[in-house]
Amino acid sequence: MLLKDKVAIVTGANRGIGLSIARTFLQNGAKVIACTRSSEDQEEVLLAKLNPDGIHNLQLVHLDLSEEHVIKSAIKEIMTTNSKIDILVNNAGIASGGLFQMTTMQELRRLFDVNFFGQILLTQGIARLMQRHKAGSIINISSTAACIADPGTLGYGSSKAAFARASQSMATELGASGIRVNAIAPGVTRTDMFDQMTPMAREKLINSSSLRRAAEPQDIANMALFLASNLSTFITGQILKVDGGIV
Ligand SMILES: NC(=O)c1ccc[n+]([C@@H]2O[C@H](COP(=O)([O-])OP(=O)(O)OC[C@H]3O[C@@H](n4cnc5c(N)ncnc54)[C@H](OP(=O)(O)O)[C@@H]3O)[C@@H](O)[C@H]2O)c1
Repeated sequence: MLLKDKVAIVTGANRGIGLSIARTFLQNGAKVIACTRSSEDQEEVLLAKLNPDGIHNLQLVHLDLSEEHVIKSAIKEIMTTNSKIDILVNNAGIASGGLFQMTTMQELRRLFDVNFFGQILLTQGIARLMQRHKAGSIINISSTAACIADPGTLGYGSSKAAFARASQSMATELGASGIRVNAIAPGVTRTDMFDQMTPMAREKLINSSSLRRAAEPQDIANMALFLASNLSTFITGQILKVDGGIV
């Protein structure tokens, strides 16, 4: 019960890494505000996925990170229904591949809108609430693609690098308010995003890791749990790789 009495927001909580983080947080005693793009008719399915143990400490909030007005109304809804927020996990993200000369400005903007601008806007709003209570842990999901410049990763890798760098700026500015900000850089992880990669790109990353396997979503959730909990109270401004040892 490392998160007993904590309130945590998890974006992209309906599948993949976000689902695993939301479940892990619920199992550790947190109230989870699960942000999803899902339409209302999927709500029951989603609740069953998030709540396999019948834990009821869950709030669903609609969030589309590509729409500024939706982000603003999600912040408003969260602030009016919760007196404090302890943890924010910026997990939702999109990926696409494309060589430098083939990448359109439209595609770059689409990636940055979701993976960078949307996350910054959401975090600005939630950090204001954390600042009132002089405490909080913000966890931003970046990627090893932020620092490994494989061909075809211009847009995705750059958006994730920008977000990791932004985490460090947030850490330096929010530290005085007792808020810690860290980024997790997962290596290749078994989710729907994993299935989008070419087998060659996946194999290359797996074979360059010391452990020679892809991560499971739970491997990333365990790091998020550590960063969210009081076990990491002196850790901030870090980009923590969970990649099976790509060295
Ligand atoms: N899997 C990997 O190998 C890997 C490696 C490094 C880093 N990461 C990062 O880890 C995070 C989670 O990835 P994943 O592998 O779990 O991916 P995933 O299975 O593709 O899930 C992506 C999640 O993001 C949500 N999302 C996408 N666009 C959104 C938007 N505009 N507004 C709100 N939510 C949106 C999706 O919601 P919908 O279901 O509605 O689409 C889904 O919940 C991402 O930031 C990703 O970049 C993944």
